[in-house]
Amino acid sequence: MIRTNFNVTGENPFNHGRIQMIKTIQFTLNGKPVRIEVDSGRTLLWVLRTDLGLTGAKFGCGEGLCGACTVLLDDEAVPSCQLSVDYVAGREIKTIEGLTKNGQLHPIQRAFVKHDALQCGFCTPGMILKAYSLLLSNPKPTRDQIISEMDDNLCRCGAHVRIVQAIQTASKELKGGRP
Ligand code: FES
Ligand code: FES
Repeated sequence: MIRTNFNVTGENPFNHGRIQMIKTIQFTLNGKPVRIEVDSGRTLLWVLRTDLGLTGAKFGCGEGLCGACTVLLDDEAVPSCQLSVDYVAGREIKTIEGLTKNGQLHPIQRAFVKHDALQCGFCTPGMILKAYSLLLSNPKPTRDQIISEMDDNLCRCGAHVRIVQAIQTASKELKGGRP
């Protein structure tokens, strides 16, 4: 089915006027199967936020430059504002909402709380998921490696020092990057 998009609300303003292609897309979201009828060209970020009600991933720049929209795609941190929902068909997406287990915060979340590694919190979901991906691939990073790997995730509140400390603490608690 092809439709012209004239009435997208609350979405990326740059999407107005493009052609819609409605498809059925299935993927795994926070461990559960998802099947949705959706314009396959929409970004994963807006499908998560507006169709699936998961607002942890934030819209910052919309250009792949700030990391506020970071989610995990097969455990790799990716900017969801830059991926069409079509791209994730058949794959596994994890958002900040999926990180707690049985009501318990993930060790990275606990470390962020312990170090007060946030101020407004807008960047925090993306920071935590980027750290998750980093610690899976490099469970014992040096401080310089953490700074380098987290470079694409921006914090306008300037919590960087405490964010790095939180990741160092989490790396001590995690075994091979996993709880
Ligand atoms: S909103 Fe996606 S990188 Fe900034
Ligand atoms: S805590 Fe406000 S942008 Fe990072």
